[in-house]
Amino acid sequence: MCGITAYVGTDDAVGGLLTGLANLEYRGYDSAGIAVKNGRGLRVVKREGELERLREALGTERPTGTIGIGHTRWSTHGPPTDENAHPHTDCTGRVAVVHNGIIENYETLREELSATGHEFHSETDTEVVPHLIEAELERHENPESAFRAAVSRLEGSYAIACLVDETEVVYAARQGSPLVLGQAEGRYFLASDVPAFREFTDEVVYLEDGDIVVVRPDGYTVTDCSGVPLARPVETVDWEPEAAGKSGYPHYMLKEIHEQPASLRQTLQGRVESLAGTVTLEEFPPGAFADVEQVQFVAMGTSHHAAMYAASMLSGRGVTANAYMAGEYADSPPPMSADTLVVAVTQSGETADTMNAVRRARDGGARTLAVTNVVGSSVTRECDDSLFIRAGPEIGVAATKTFSSQVATLSLVAERVAEDVTGVASADTRALLDALSDLPGDVQRILDESPAREVAEALYGCDAYFFIGRRAAYPVALEGALKFKEITYEHAEGFAASELKHGPLALVTDETPVFGVLTGEDETKTIGNLKEVQARDAPVIVVAPPSKADKVGFADYVLTIPESHPEVGGILANVQLQLVSYHAADLLGRPIDKPRNLAKSVTVE
Ligand code: F6R
Repeated sequence: MCGITAYVGTDDAVGGLLTGLANLEYRGYDSAGIAVKNGRGLRVVKREGELERLREALGTERPTGTIGIGHTRWSTHGPPTDENAHPHTDCTGRVAVVHNGIIENYETLREELSATGHEFHSETDTEVVPHLIEAELERHENPESAFRAAVSRLEGSYAIACLVDETEVVYAARQGSPLVLGQAEGRYFLASDVPAFREFTDEVVYLEDGDIVVVRPDGYTVTDCSGVPLARPVETVDWEPEAAGKSGYPHYMLKEIHEQPASLRQTLQGRVESLAGTVTLEEFPPGAFADVEQVQFVAMGTSHHAAMYAASMLSGRGVTANAYMAGEYADSPPPMSADTLVVAVTQSGETADTMNAVRRARDGGARTLAVTNVVGSSVTRECDDSLFIRAGPEIGVAATKTFSSQVATLSLVAERVAEDVTGVASADTRALLDALSDLPGDVQRILDESPAREVAEALYGCDAYFFIGRRAAYPVALEGALKFKEITYEHAEGFAASELKHGPLALVTDETPVFGVLTGEDETKTIGNLKEVQARDAPVIVVAPPSKADKVGFADYVLTIPESHPEVGGILANVQLQLVSYHAADLLGRPIDKPRNLAKSVTVE
């Protein structure tokens, strides 16, 4: 779970590398480093800690050079220390390497290399790579051949960028970890993700697994491991660089919460024709899912909550559908066949658990569909088909706008699949599409009017926070609790409202606020549950539309959402809960965009 970047140009490489690393910090931020090639060899500067520590170090020992590589780390092998930070070098200091992923056979390689005299200074899996290249440089005159030979020995997942002292080149390889190339006039960039270099160019090449890239100041080549040239199209990214900045908000999370009207518009654009009551899903015309007998969703975290939401929608339309935690699914998959549609829901498209679940599904003969935010991500390469949620880049570690766009996209998938499978359009389709069309405006109203800050001010600092809901509101309760615990570090749990009496009620006191999500048609039972907790002195906060106002008058606080379709109301309720979590974390002074122990893209199991 790291970010890599590389710069090849004719001007100062260090500035471009630092910009890239700053834009990639969401991928990891426990240590950072760069290597730059200049006339006097390779200069490596790396530090444990956030990027600021590297900047400080560069203030006193800033190397000069026009070609370089950089890395921002999230530890997987060895704790965050200066030694374990990347770039790693060989025994001679001729080779420097940055790596994202895991070299699975590193222990074998390390033993082999140690036996021939190579000395290691870190606990990382990565350090075998520069030593392997060093060994291959003794066998191959041409550094490019040595790089290919070394890469062919690696097992596992990797995006690697490498400098070899005597060449004006960056060598790079991709297998199972993301790597994109950006080209601007006279400059080339390599990175784990486009935001790293978006402010310099919008022309990108999405590299594929097995690709080897050789980047020189005057151009680049993409080949396979044996040197056969490969054509990779240059694509133009359709979002502006500001989309990856904070645009005046104090945190990315708040910015991304406020982007939801725009991101939802983008998600739904061209897909919903509410007047005609039709859904248009790019390459999935009516009948595209006619052979499907059951749907299995695989996902983790917030994406899993979106998947639960979608499974509940499909079940409600008469289609057998279940949402699985991808990590569990990968270890013990349920029965499946060629008639099973496995939908991998993943914002990043890189989550290791979800990728493994997709592989299990493919092995089981199922049809696979990726629903993701990241074009060119690993999941899109492994699934039969892909559908993009079009939420734009999300930098805050806590997922916000992508949950809304996932649910909106999945609700359209649910409509299409249900109609194809059951052969009849749902009587409810028009109402759902109307509500989706109104969704961006409804979210805007919440953002303009929400009393979430006052609720957070009144309730932050309690012992624990509980969230309850039924049907589609149940995953919203889970998501509300996940967001709250993730960024406030306070104890928060979500429950199906029906579960409350079967144990959790024992925890309820005047120090445990309970949030009730009321978005369904008949919420009598959940309202009853909320009265039960209130009778035990718990503060009650209700998220509900005005039509339920007379039934929730007993609540201590009401977070109102616009009237909507019950299945769209969950997205609206979730926006209120996002705001409460954000403000509580802000009042507690938490590092909201980088919660401790968490990273945006979880590429290890
Ligand atoms: C929570 C959060 C995580 C992710 C999970 C899956 O705010 O962001 O729970 O949802 O790690 O990530 P993706 O969607 O990238 O597969």
